[in-house]
Amino acid sequence: MHGSLSAGRIERLIAEMDLTEKLGQMTMLAASLVVTGPPGPDNPVTLVRTGKVGGILNTWGYDEIREAQRVALEETRLKIPLYFAVDILHGHRTIHPIPLAEACAFDRELWRRTARESAEEATRDGIQMTFAPMLDVCRDPRWGRIAECAGEDGYVHAEYAREKVVGFQSANPDPNRRLLGVAKHFVAYGAVKAGRDYAEVDVSPRALHEVYLPAFKAAVDAGVAGIMPSFTDIAGVAMTANKELLHDLLRVKWGFNGLVISDYNAIAELMNHGVAADLAEAAALALNAGVDIDMMAGAYENGLPIALERGLVTMAQIDEAVTRILRMKHDVGLFDNPLRGLEKVGPTPDNMPGHRASARDAARRSLVLAKNEGNILPLQRTTRRMAAIGPLADAQSEMMGPWCMAGDEREAIGILQGLRESFAGSEVIHSIGAHCTDEVEPELIAEAVEAARASDVVVLCLGELRQHCGEAASRTTPRPSRAQMQLSRAIMALGKPVVLVLATSRPWILPDWMVDGASAVMLAMFGGTEGGHAIADVMAGDYNPSGRLCISWPTRVGQIPVHYNMRTTGRPFDPDNGFSTRFLDSTIAPRWGFGDGLSYSTFQLGEPQADNKIIDQHGVTEIAIDVTNAAGPEGEATLFLFVNDPVALVTRPVLELKDFAKAVLRPGETKRVGFTLSAAQLTYPDFAMEPRLDDGRIDIYIGVSARPEDLKRLSIEVRQTAKARHTELV
Ligand code: GLC
Repeated sequence: MHGSLSAGRIERLIAEMDLTEKLGQMTMLAASLVVTGPPGPDNPVTLVRTGKVGGILNTWGYDEIREAQRVALEETRLKIPLYFAVDILHGHRTIHPIPLAEACAFDRELWRRTARESAEEATRDGIQMTFAPMLDVCRDPRWGRIAECAGEDGYVHAEYAREKVVGFQSANPDPNRRLLGVAKHFVAYGAVKAGRDYAEVDVSPRALHEVYLPAFKAAVDAGVAGIMPSFTDIAGVAMTANKELLHDLLRVKWGFNGLVISDYNAIAELMNHGVAADLAEAAALALNAGVDIDMMAGAYENGLPIALERGLVTMAQIDEAVTRILRMKHDVGLFDNPLRGLEKVGPTPDNMPGHRASARDAARRSLVLAKNEGNILPLQRTTRRMAAIGPLADAQSEMMGPWCMAGDEREAIGILQGLRESFAGSEVIHSIGAHCTDEVEPELIAEAVEAARASDVVVLCLGELRQHCGEAASRTTPRPSRAQMQLSRAIMALGKPVVLVLATSRPWILPDWMVDGASAVMLAMFGGTEGGHAIADVMAGDYNPSGRLCISWPTRVGQIPVHYNMRTTGRPFDPDNGFSTRFLDSTIAPRWGFGDGLSYSTFQLGEPQADNKIIDQHGVTEIAIDVTNAAGPEGEATLFLFVNDPVALVTRPVLELKDFAKAVLRPGETKRVGFTLSAAQLTYPDFAMEPRLDDGRIDIYIGVSARPEDLKRLSIEVRQTAKARHTELV
């Protein structure tokens, strides 16, 4: 330990603390600059004086932080500094694309960069901790929080986790510009039944180990400072009290020695789960599972004294938690400088050099072009008149997404402004046409139809309101509102070219006529402060779209869950066999699937080569493939490397993503893209959930999407040396 708080000093400090002060350090309360859960005490700063608060969430800024910290340092007995935390999932003051959009960039450097920039901004506002990255793999667009995750794939989440943790915690050379990450929500929150938020979760141990845990393991391996258990249960064991996962797996097997911070009021909610008779039992269950900090439940403050009396917990457990908390405050520099990083003038997109440009780049890269019939895009700058129509055409607020805490929507660029800047020589008229509601307003539609009739091309901008997205925002059918449907029908009936821009927080279920009636479809989701510029940049050809879907867009809500990496079955779909897996009323394929996305260029792949066609259990093979920009402007290709294990101990996914890479190619240029594939990457959990490697053939697929027609295949063989060979067939 360096600085003013050695290990011995922590022990002496704890020895001085009474029970109230210890439980105070274990308590985090919410201020009210933003609301992220049920209301709590009026003002946590007044409680700071009592020593009952160790940290505050949902506040930031020079005056707020100084006053709260002054109270802690001048008006409490032990003068232990507070720490401050906010949910910074996609930007602090400069808002980046929502995670579900940014994941579509498949760009590790981008993911790290935006996290680093968020940390630069948040620390200037006096923040030391963010409840991010959110790592809940999700295959269900009915769940509003799908907006916060990186899509349907566990490997993508693991890569995203590492980059975000490094970006928040260590990428900035100045320690005062680093933010502590708290990976959440541990674990499998994205599998809530029916996509209904907070509902039960019942995933198999295999799904847990193959799909949901790897991202958290990656976060822990990257040194994440904290873990937040989810509100939910797993097979009846509430995560906030899940000792097997929070202690045995996380702390013992994985060696995690950071903080476990409950979700908002989650400890008290163990009583609603029906596993605690009162607050004392709830507090004891959480502490015994390894939860260090109680967020907003008052369970540790009011429940642990009774739990101690009942012998449900020990003072040693409390001291262990307080030690971790004090160590965190020391390591982040608060004992040396309780106002570390705080600046009198807070960050804005325009006073942080390069941040707005970076946000624009992030939004461009996150945007997915799903349809471009007749190459209507990019639009000609000589377009005489275009109509920007729809509730999202001029919606700065919605661009910011559901977890935009300090972002100022007045600084955001809407689609209309973006179009008017990019098409300065065109007349861009605007008509809202409808609201994001089911109530149809005929007069609005009539006005929009007139605007469209007078135009050469229509940019139809549909989407959701921010307040209908994110937490506690599940929908049985994620779709355009009825008013937007009516508007779309009326506009498309004119026969004008329509570019459909979807500014949503999740995949939508779209009627076939709406997709058919659009010449182009842009899946922009919520692009953040620079969302409107990014959409216009792609529309005008100033950026060649490179985004690829990290999440499938179902054709029908009844397909949910639908994702690219489903396990094979005993009766795989066969169009010529009625006794194969299928729906009578729909395809089994999503409308747009994982890896889908169009470019203005045409990329062609050569035949993949592997330098080692046979590898043992320590083996590595270098795979190379040529990619050519065969037509169109300079563009960026995304190459995916999947594997399939055709004969294994258990059924395997038809495709498993193991790597992805980008290649920028000038027109006509060919580049060789290399991947390194190790035997360790080919393991999967055996019956005991321990890594298993099979001898035999492994099929490798490389493509610019996961569509069979886009995939190039080669096979290698695993041949383990005798001592490691798994020959038993159980
Ligand atoms: C919320 C969310 C969690 C967030 C926390 C603090 O309820 O579940 O993701 O970090 O409360 O805002």
